[in-house]
Amino acid sequence: MANLVAPKVQQQAVSVTRKMSASLPGLREIAAQRGLKVHHLGAGYPHPEVTDPRGFLLHQEAYFEHLREREGLNDPDVLPEYLREAYSYTDTLGPISARQTFANVYGRDWNLTLNPEKLIPTVGASGGINLICSMFEHPGQPVAYITDAPTYAGFTARVALCQHATIFSVEMDGEGPSPEGMRAQIRAAREQGYFVPFYYTVPDGHNPGGFSFSQQRREAVLEVARDEGILIVEDAPYLYINFAAPQDRAKPFLSMAPDQTVHLFTGSKIGFPGPRVGFLYSEAELEIAAGEKVPLSELALVESSSELLFHSPGALRGFEALLHERSGDDFVERQSIWPLAEDKLVVYRENRQILLEVLERELGSYKDYFSWTIPGGGFFTVFTFLNSGKGNMVRTDDAMIENMVMEHGLVVIPMYDFYPKDARQRDPGAGMNQLRLSFCFSESAGQQRRDDMREAVEAFCQAAKALVGTT
Ligand SMILES: Cc1ncc(COP(=O)(O)O)c(C=O)c1O
Repeated sequence: MANLVAPKVQQQAVSVTRKMSASLPGLREIAAQRGLKVHHLGAGYPHPEVTDPRGFLLHQEAYFEHLREREGLNDPDVLPEYLREAYSYTDTLGPISARQTFANVYGRDWNLTLNPEKLIPTVGASGGINLICSMFEHPGQPVAYITDAPTYAGFTARVALCQHATIFSVEMDGEGPSPEGMRAQIRAAREQGYFVPFYYTVPDGHNPGGFSFSQQRREAVLEVARDEGILIVEDAPYLYINFAAPQDRAKPFLSMAPDQTVHLFTGSKIGFPGPRVGFLYSEAELEIAAGEKVPLSELALVESSSELLFHSPGALRGFEALLHERSGDDFVERQSIWPLAEDKLVVYRENRQILLEVLERELGSYKDYFSWTIPGGGFFTVFTFLNSGKGNMVRTDDAMIENMVMEHGLVVIPMYDFYPKDARQRDPGAGMNQLRLSFCFSESAGQQRRDDMREAVEAFCQAAKALVGTT
């Protein structure tokens, strides 16, 4: 029998986050053998305390019953239209009611009029990333994406699938990416013959950056994008996992410039990850072959129809249920998504508070040794060993990460893997003194969750002090 050959296929590298989750059971066993408790500061998953689907399933059931009644069906043998549709082939755009509801509610929250015909259902934000990349990769022309250093691992993983796509990354400070750096990278990529379609980022609750971009920096970034004629792909999973007071929140790029932005919404963090509901939205128009101008949403729709055919109509209808609330015997469209998010925020706000309080209490007088970001949104803070000449040098490599589990039961994620290749070439030490600490996940609930979070951060602070030799 002939061998199966694929000479141009390359084995893709596995990301550190995937490696960590794969090795966790083994490490957990070793930690248990050593009598250590496992402290979760690694996983970026929504907390189980706020992702119990049972309440949602009852709500969905009642909403579907309401739809049945609205159809005027009294005969239980007649198949309701919503149910027929939920299990059928649909158009790629999926049920209009789900898109219309989302357009209304999201539009109110962000002071926008969203056109439901431009809402393209995606398989979470991951599907949105995939969709926008594949749209620009078809022509076969070398393509360069601009992104932050560090950036979301799911984005670099997706880019790595296309052999004629590459990343030109931009360093960040505490407010966002450097606008001059961004302009220079766009121009450098073009000089090297690449087509540059967009800048990809996570401006709110940056993963893994652990902060949100300032309003001023967003404006500067937008100006560069406009001048240079590139899109901003705004991945927005943590838009509502926001810890800033309403008056202090910066605006999403979508509400600043819908014609320059491709916005990726996901239901994973404000609802549930399982149903994989997401939307890509943009009012941009692109000049394509022969100078023709077409809405980006139309190109995305055609792309999606061959990639996905259609999203699960049942999942989209379930999301529509989430966007309705009971009013007596009736259901009404929610005014806003914020109250939904608030149910989740209670847990994340508390965990974040514990993390920041314990870091300050234990390490606040060692600011020459350590620094950490203050997350305005999202699930993470970036912890830096300053290696300023005081104390031992700390390298956050794989051996150090393994040691943190074996010696202290601490699960943390190294930052180096989140820096795109070009950033590591510019600075081989990029991320080699940083960890991503997450405060979103633990295995316990209520008071036990709070106690576990506190214990985890205390254990981390002890370990950090021991590493630099200050204890
Ligand atoms: C920045 C970012 N983008 C995308 C995703 C994936 O989200 P989804 O479940 O919507 O695919 C995540 C998940 O953690 C994320 O942090």
